[in-house]
Amino acid sequence: MIVTNDDELQKLKEIGRICAEALKVMAAHLQPGITTLELDRIGRKVLEDNGAQSAPEFCYQFPGATCISVNEEVAHGIPGARVIAPGDLVNIDVSALKDGFFSDTGASFAVPPVAPKAARLTRDGKRALWIGLNQVRAGAPLAQIGQAIGTFARKNRYTLIRNLASHGVGRSLHEEPSELSTWPDPDETRMMEDGLVFTIEPFLSLGGEWAEDGGGEDTWTLYSEPKALTVQFEHTVVATRNGPLILTLAD
Ligand code: CO
Ligand code: CO
Repeated sequence: MIVTNDDELQKLKEIGRICAEALKVMAAHLQPGITTLELDRIGRKVLEDNGAQSAPEFCYQFPGATCISVNEEVAHGIPGARVIAPGDLVNIDVSALKDGFFSDTGASFAVPPVAPKAARLTRDGKRALWIGLNQVRAGAPLAQIGQAIGTFARKNRYTLIRNLASHGVGRSLHEEPSELSTWPDPDETRMMEDGLVFTIEPFLSLGGEWAEDGGGEDTWTLYSEPKALTVQFEHTVVATRNGPLILTLAD
């Protein structure tokens, strides 16, 4: 969506804040021994206490309030009986709606003791997101986001998952502009309109090129192909003339 008035902006800020809060509280409870379902219930409670509703449940009947993906799982992991273990790499993705407005955020966390390559990947995944955010400005080409992230990834010998794109958000979870590449994309010719609301969510990997489901009954969980550790960091942002207005920063 394009933000056109302050009422819309306030509602977007409110749901952005709630998503950030849910992610922060879940991350604070992430430790060995907790199950992903218990984590999900913690996130669900934050959403409900703030009058918000899980977007993946609302939009796609996803079986959980949040997506929790562990180690070999890249995205859309279903909360369940899996017990978090020391050294796990855990991605938590929270998207929700309130008063008809949606927001979306995510982050990956390495549970101590952290292997050096997982620590580096996690740190650089966050950097990749911020490099993308720093490209945001009304009137600038959308392609420069993927260009900048791609340059960073290549320079540091990472790969980027190329079939999990960023997306417009606001009036629904996934809306126009859709399929925003967080990798270099010569076909991307669109501009960032003033007030455009969208996510940036690069998936930085130690070799993964794309994501696919496991081929079993679970048609949600996505795995990297080839198999490799992968992290994702995501914010919802508004393009303004002064640069990025990030809606999903925690207090
Ligand atoms: Co997300
Ligand atoms: Co998203």
